[in-house]
This record gives sequence, C-alpha cells and structure tokens, in this order.
Amino acid sequence: MQTDSGFTFVLFGGTGDLAMRKILPALYEAHRAGMLADNGKIVAVARHSADLADYLQWVEQHVKPHVSKNGIDEAAWASFVQRIAYVRLDLGRAADFTLLREALEPLNGTRVFYLATGPSLFVPVCQALAAVGLNAGARIVLEKPLGYDLKSSTAINDAVGEIFTEGQIYRIDHYLGKEPVQNLLALRFGNALFEPLWRREWVESIQITIAEELGVEARGDFYDNTGALRDMVQNHLLQLLSIVAMEPPHSMDSDAVRDEKLRVLRALKPIDSRDISKIAVRGQYHAGVIRGTPVPAYSTEPGVKPGSTTETFVALKVEIENWRWAGVPFFLRTGKRLADRVAEIVVNFRAVPHSALGPSALRPGANRLVIRLQPNEMIRLYCLAKQPGEGMNLSSVHLDLAFDQFFPEGQMEAYQRLLLDVINGRLALFVRRDEQEAAWRWVEPILNEWASPGKTPKPYAAGTWGPAAASAMLAQHDTCWLEEEN
Ligand code: BG6
Repeated sequence: MQTDSGFTFVLFGGTGDLAMRKILPALYEAHRAGMLADNGKIVAVARHSADLADYLQWVEQHVKPHVSKNGIDEAAWASFVQRIAYVRLDLGRAADFTLLREALEPLNGTRVFYLATGPSLFVPVCQALAAVGLNAGARIVLEKPLGYDLKSSTAINDAVGEIFTEGQIYRIDHYLGKEPVQNLLALRFGNALFEPLWRREWVESIQITIAEELGVEARGDFYDNTGALRDMVQNHLLQLLSIVAMEPPHSMDSDAVRDEKLRVLRALKPIDSRDISKIAVRGQYHAGVIRGTPVPAYSTEPGVKPGSTTETFVALKVEIENWRWAGVPFFLRTGKRLADRVAEIVVNFRAVPHSALGPSALRPGANRLVIRLQPNEMIRLYCLAKQPGEGMNLSSVHLDLAFDQFFPEGQMEAYQRLLLDVINGRLALFVRRDEQEAAWRWVEPILNEWASPGKTPKPYAAGTWGPAAASAMLAQHDTCWLEEEN
C-alpha cells in the first residue's frame, strides 16, 4: 500500500548516525517495496555537505552499505536517490531557515520535519521553523532522548507545544514500531484464550528483559551523561510494560491505545526513596569476555569520564496499583555487555492451587509464557506433561510458535513502519506528552537517589547477566531471572 499522499520529508541531521543507519535505509526499503507515493520527496538538511552532489556521494558511501546488508536492488536504489534533495543549513542560525522555506515552496504534500538531532536543538529548530511560517500544517518528529528529566522534558514539550499542536507531534520510541511489539497487542487482544488469565489471580510475576551484548560503541560521551535508566527504562521498558499491563482499548485508535497505556504509567506504585535499594539495582560493566572476545571495562571506553558512576545495567521491581495487577511484581532489567542479546517478556503463571498429581505438579516456573521480541520472534508456552512410562511424574515441556515459519517473508523494520505512520498521519505508535511525562515522573526518585554523592553502581563482568544483587532481589520473591535457550 502506498502512502496516502505526496509528502516532503525534511530530515534534519541528514549526515548524522541515525540518518545513516536507520532513517535513510528505512525510507529506501519503503521505496523499494513501492510504499512511498511517487511524488514524495526527501529533503536532507545538514551543514557538512557542500551541495546535492556532495551529499549524494555521502549517501552512496555511508548509507548504501547499511542498505545492502539485506542485498540491494540497484534499480530501486537509483530511483530512491532521485527523491533526495539537499539544503545546506546551519541549524544554529535562524536566518538560514528562509533558504529552507524557499527550497520547500515548490514541493507539495504533507510536510514532515524529522529532528534526528540532539535534544538541545529541538526548541531552536521549531522556533526557527515557526519564524518562517513552516510549522503550519506540518508534522514534527522528535527523537529520544526528549529531555534529561521531567523538568527538561516539560520545558521542551512546552516550547514545542507553543508551535505545534499535540496532534502534529510524533515522539519516537522505536520499540513501539517493532513487529513483535505489535504482535503483543495481537496476542492479547486478538485471542480470547489469554485475556481471562492476564491478571493477578493467575499471574504470579512478570519479567521484561532487554539485554544487549553491545557496549556503548562510539557513544561514550552521550551515554555517560545518560545511563541505562534514561536510555532504556524511562522509554522502551516502561512502554513495553504499559502494553503488557494495559486494559483492552476499545479500538486501535491512537488515543484509545495511548489512554490505556497512560493509565498503567499513572498506576505505577510511586517510589519511596527509602526503598530504592530494595527495588532497584544498578550496575556498571567491568572488563570481561563476550562470545570468546575480551572487551574493555565501561570506565575505559572513549568519552567516559574517569570514575564515572553512570549505570550500564538496571534491574527494577515495579508494582502496578490497580485491580488487575495489585500485588504482582513486574521485574524489569536492561543492560549493556550482557551475556546475550535478547528482548523478552516472561509471564509466570501461578501453580495449581492443589496438586492432585503429586508434588511435581507444583513446580515453580512450569506454567509460563515467554514472548521473545528479539533476536528471533517467538512465543513459547511451558506446561507440565506426564513423563512416559509408569507412575505420574510430570516434567516441563513447551509449545513453540516461531513466527518466521509462518511468515517467511520477514518483518518490517521498526523505523520503516514508524516513518510510514508519520507520513500517513497515524499517531498510535508515538508517545503522547502525558505518557512521556508520567514515565519521567515515576523514574525521578531513582534518578535523584543515584545522583546523590557517594552512591556507586555495582560492578559486573562483561559477558555475564549483571550484578549478583539483581538475582538476590528476585530471590527475595522466591523466583529467579529466566534466561531462555535460543
Ligand atoms: C536505543 C538506545 O534507544 O535503543 C541504545 O539509545 C540501545 O543504547 C538501542 O542500544 C537498543 O535498540 P534495539 O532495537 O537494538 O534493541
């Protein structure tokens, strides 16, 4: 299906890392699949390239390798490149924006301004757009991180909100664009089977893990001022949590879905700073080995300040104060340089209330549903079954649903879906201001506590599952982190 209408997609940060790795490759894929209207144009805005020819050379050198990972269709690439225009502009100089207005004047269709820039530029760029009248009727896309805490994100939202209405603002959380996250909605609300069990009476605890093998790569400087709580928990993990825990929305209309997610975020049990050491663990990786290769400590990564106390791992116990979830712990964890790259949700169901089949029917962890988001999309349901032979001995077995077997054509990349949604004006997969601020409000006591002097993260060796304290936290609830076999 093609985008609804012609469009002009203006990409600020046109030579940045995100443009190179994600945005331009996603637009190319959408183009190759025939999903972009023929009269859609991409206008890259940057300072580094002198003119269009220079920019296209950069695209050839830096973007094409990311695209060709999946095999490139040269004819599609050649016609994709034809869509690109270039405007050289210094984003810090509001006066330069008249050049942009002139470049955009002959172009028709929906205007999208994508700010793939640092957050410090969000407000000046929006103001400069407004000063030359380019905000009217346009859509604006803001990348994360949107602010550093509640105060700074409110300040950005207030300033942007004076220029664009909420319906014009698309705040990206790329996890919401991932196919398996969409599938989670399908699993929960497309099947009558799970919904009656999806509540405190039947669920003992839920775990959500986003583990990475990668370290901070070339982003040491950014990451050191950010840390895992801001980089992953405030957004991706809390968004996943809200989708796992939300009430069924009455439709998939953007505000119907976002209203329900917001209710979850507002129902998170507020954090008492005296309890933080019991419900939150932070860690920082030391040198270690990942898949046989030695990797350095976080503290020695380029851009990281000496003696940095920035966390590269977070584990949390979260509670949701509503009728559906009261008393059910949600355990969240994320970290860099862990033992595996995996994102998954584990729903642990309660054991049977009375074991007519003997003690083996009370085995903890036997009744569980694992929803794996990456690296491979899979749903696995563990149940107990009788072992063959004499007697009634039960053992854990599982039913598997591997999505690539049913849908061999593969998944759409998160950015591709999200960019098409922006062009088509669909807001459901973008974070609304109130959701974002509720998430900041909830994490704030932890941020403050961890920023206080003398507090340091717990060490863990790269290539492990994080500090021992994260396991000890779960042991207090008679459970453990469940790491699925691939
Ligand atoms: C980004 C974070 O939002 O998500 C990165 O800034 C992290 O630090 C990335 O590596 C993880 O995304 P994915 O899609 O690779 O799981």
